[in-house]
Parts: sequence; structure tokens; C-alpha cells
Amino acid sequence: MPPPPQIQGFAEAEAERRLSDEKVQEICEYILHREEALDRDLLRYGDPAGKDVLIFGGGYGNEVLWAMRRGARSIVSIDLSHVSAAPLKRAMAARGIDHPSFEFRQENVHETALRGETYDLIVSNGVFEHVLDLKGVLGAFRPLLRAKGRIAIFADGLWYSSIGGHLRGEPWEHLWRSPADVKAAHPDRWDYYCNQLNRMTIVDFLEAVRSTGLLVLQLNTGCDPALVQLPRRLPAIRERLDAVSPTDCSIVSIGCELCFAEHL
Ligand SMILES: C[S@@+](CC[C@H](N)C(=O)[O-])C[C@H]1O[C@@H](n2cnc3c(N)ncnc32)[C@H](O)[C@@H]1O
Repeated sequence: MPPPPQIQGFAEAEAERRLSDEKVQEICEYILHREEALDRDLLRYGDPAGKDVLIFGGGYGNEVLWAMRRGARSIVSIDLSHVSAAPLKRAMAARGIDHPSFEFRQENVHETALRGETYDLIVSNGVFEHVLDLKGVLGAFRPLLRAKGRIAIFADGLWYSSIGGHLRGEPWEHLWRSPADVKAAHPDRWDYYCNQLNRMTIVDFLEAVRSTGLLVLQLNTGCDPALVQLPRRLPAIRERLDAVSPTDCSIVSIGCELCFAEHL
């Protein structure tokens, strides 16, 4: 996943609520850049064309723009943080896209699940490596889906991968450096490192899927792009964390299509 610009958590960026023109442009470029990757990362797990789509953890709207471009009928994007629509509107203008039905909501998915709304497709990109309550969130998807409803998930930068610390530093740095050294080397990433990463492995994810009773229609893993460097890094990683599995270190991403049996 290419590093986004310095958007350190949406709450922080939105604290002033009114973004400067420069910030709107920066985020707009981030949206345009990230949206392009979704044909590769998400499309095979869920095609928005003609569907009512719920974006889980939509942030500034990369997946919204993608769903628009891909012909979604309607789009609701939920996020825990307040999100300004100004950068997305600028990105829409840049792509010449106009869409009659999209909505940003500052809302936890557990609230959305109580609304009585249903969707054809739930899309999640770059969120599940942050979600603390995996089972709770997957369970909340159940009432939100209608017959034939599907869930498309892509989660990148899993904790034990070379980029799992989201530090934008050296491969597996979060595993071979001590937390004190991580803080000293990346003071700007420390809060994110401590509070926004769930440290899940693929097994943790699949256990949550399994305990929620979801059907797995497709499942793929992405091989870590720095894997060739792993043998050299492993001794230093094991010095700190002797139980680390090279298997987990080799998987950078998960992509999957899921559904509940009653929606099949
Ligand atoms: C790393 S951001 C990714 C945003 C966007 N998908 C992207 O790729 O730029 C993860 C987002 O998930 C949101 N999130 C996490 N748990 C959530 C929940 N339970 N309900 C709604 N949003 C949630 C966070 O607020 C955060 O904005």
C-alpha cells in the first residue's frame, strides 16, 4: 500500500472542521491515488455496479469515489470520525463524476446495524487491521445485508508484515526495534502505532470470520513485498519476540468475499 500523505487520523485532521484549500487539495490527491488501486485490490471481491453499497470505515472517501466510478446505485460511507466531503467533491470534479446518491455519516457500524437499512454490498478497505472488536464488527454486518448480500474486504499491512507497524521506516522495524526505540525514531507515528493497530494475524481474522458463522466465497493473501529480506531480519526479530512465526511475517494483506448463509 503506498504511503498516504500525512493524514494522521481523521479526527486530528478534522479538528478545525474547516480544511484549508491546501489541505483539501492534499486529501483530494490522496483519494485519487488510493481509489485507483481498488480495481486491483477490491473489485474481484465485490463489484458495486447497480448496487446499494455501504462503505465501512470510508475515511475521506476513496472507496466512495471508486464505487461511484464503478456504477453503484447508492453509497453510504460510515466512519467513527467526522469527515469533510470537500476533498471528495474535488476528486469527483477531477474525474468528471457526478453522483445523485451518496452520504457520509459519522457513525459506528453498531449504530448503522440498528437503523433497519439493508445493502447489497458492504465494502471495507484498509480498516480490518485497525478494528479492535473483529467479531463484533463482523456480526454487526449481518442485519445490514439483504438477500444475495456480500462483504468485500481488503486489509493491508497486517501487523507481522514488513509494513505492519505503519511506521514508513525499515522493513519489520516495529518487530526488531524496542517500543522505546520506535517512539524515539518515529515520534509522529507513535500514537498511531500504539492506539490504531490491532496486531491481528490472518488466523485471528479467520477465527473471527469462523465464529461469526460467515461463509468464505473467496480468500486470498498477499505475499510480503520485502520477503526476500526476512531471513536477514529474523534473528533480530526473534531476539525481541521469540514466538514470532515466519508464516505471519510473510503475509502482508488479506482479501476476501464473505456472506451469511441466509443471504446466499
Ligand atoms: C486507516 S482508516 C482507512 C480509511 C479509508 N478506508 C482509506 O483507505 O483511506 C480506518 C478507518 O476505519 C474507521 N473505523 C474503525 N472502526 C470503525 C467502526 N467500528 N465503525 C466505523 N468506522 C470505523 C476509522 O475511524 C478509520 O477512519
